[in-house]
Amino acid sequence: MYGVLRRLLFLIPPERVHTLVFAVLRGVAAVAPIRRGLRTRLGPTDPVLASTLFGVRFPGPLGLAAGFDKDGMGLDIWGAMGFGYAEIGTVTAHAQPGNPSPRLFRLAADRALLNRMGFNNHGAGALAIRLARHRPEVPIGVNIGKTKTTPAADAVEDYRASTRLVGPLSSYLVVNVSSPNTPGLRDLQAVESLRPILSAVLAETSAPVLVKIAPDISDSDLDDIADLAVELGLAGIVATNTTVSRAGLITTGVEELGAGGISGPPVARRAAEVLRRLYSRVGDRLVLISVGGIETADDAWERITAGASLLQGYTGFIYGGGLWAKHIHDGVVHRLHDGGFASLSDAVGSAARQG
Ligand SMILES: Cc1cc2nc3c(=O)[nH]c(=O)nc-3n(C[C@H](O)[C@H](O)[C@H](O)COP(=O)(O)O)c2cc1C
Repeated sequence: MYGVLRRLLFLIPPERVHTLVFAVLRGVAAVAPIRRGLRTRLGPTDPVLASTLFGVRFPGPLGLAAGFDKDGMGLDIWGAMGFGYAEIGTVTAHAQPGNPSPRLFRLAADRALLNRMGFNNHGAGALAIRLARHRPEVPIGVNIGKTKTTPAADAVEDYRASTRLVGPLSSYLVVNVSSPNTPGLRDLQAVESLRPILSAVLAETSAPVLVKIAPDISDSDLDDIADLAVELGLAGIVATNTTVSRAGLITTGVEELGAGGISGPPVARRAAEVLRRLYSRVGDRLVLISVGGIETADDAWERITAGASLLQGYTGFIYGGGLWAKHIHDGVVHRLHDGGFASLSDAVGSAARQG
């Protein structure tokens, strides 16, 4: 049924659909009995899916990835849509408009998206007000990035300012240094730039802090970031953001669409590779959140057994529709029971440990 709806929605420009669907979901979630009913029907209820990580209880492993709800306009929606948690943002210290439209494109033949949104958001202060008024039904993480107009030399203070505003109100905080759509942002992944940013954020908040990385970094840079994260006592790593690679795409005319990050199946292989490398390096010392091209319960299971304690998705939700999170959680429950696992955490890294 979502197939028919999706075909209709895909006739409309993607950013307009986003606004439209968001408005409908907000309307639905505003009615408390409907919201609660949806959460009971779609949300993860089997206790085998629950886990407590960095002091936060997650009812299910699949969360909404950053970028969908940049300003926390739908804080009530995500539990009702079946997600175990949501990552809000990216927000920046200062409000900014993002890049000019069009800036979001569907690559339907690849079930992928290309975006160069550029952190359009109302600012960390506006999100803090929304978070303070909200009673979360599922954990709400917040993803922070650098304001475009802030020079790289002042990045530390920019991240610090956002942390001060949203840190006390979030279940966890993600330092985003991996969007391809803010000039120079990914250079902050270099350990000498990353260390002062992460240290400042850690000093500013008692919330668990994670760092979100790009799929396009070398394995040795990946190892350096993993080692730094362990050394500084980070809670975990979110891997990965979108890719700038255009390799292997079936969709024609992608080059004419211009710059941007690709999400969905084209990033899946590298996201899984990055996860495996991180897990072999840090094991259980960090919580690994795997994101990038997760579409099916098989994909989810592969990531969990490769070492991911939590998962996220964005593009899979667009192509999969309102029951997507439920399907993934249901599939993971079956695999846990079939494999004789007493809990999700027993399955995390089980394939990696078998070699
Ligand atoms: C339209 C769009 C906007 C995004 N915005 C952000 C963002 O603001 N911050 C961020 O960390 N990631 C952002 N992402 C990346 C996603 O969070 C995710 O890392 C990436 O899309 C890979 O996951 P997926 O294949 O499930 O979509 C965005 C992705 C898309 C498609």
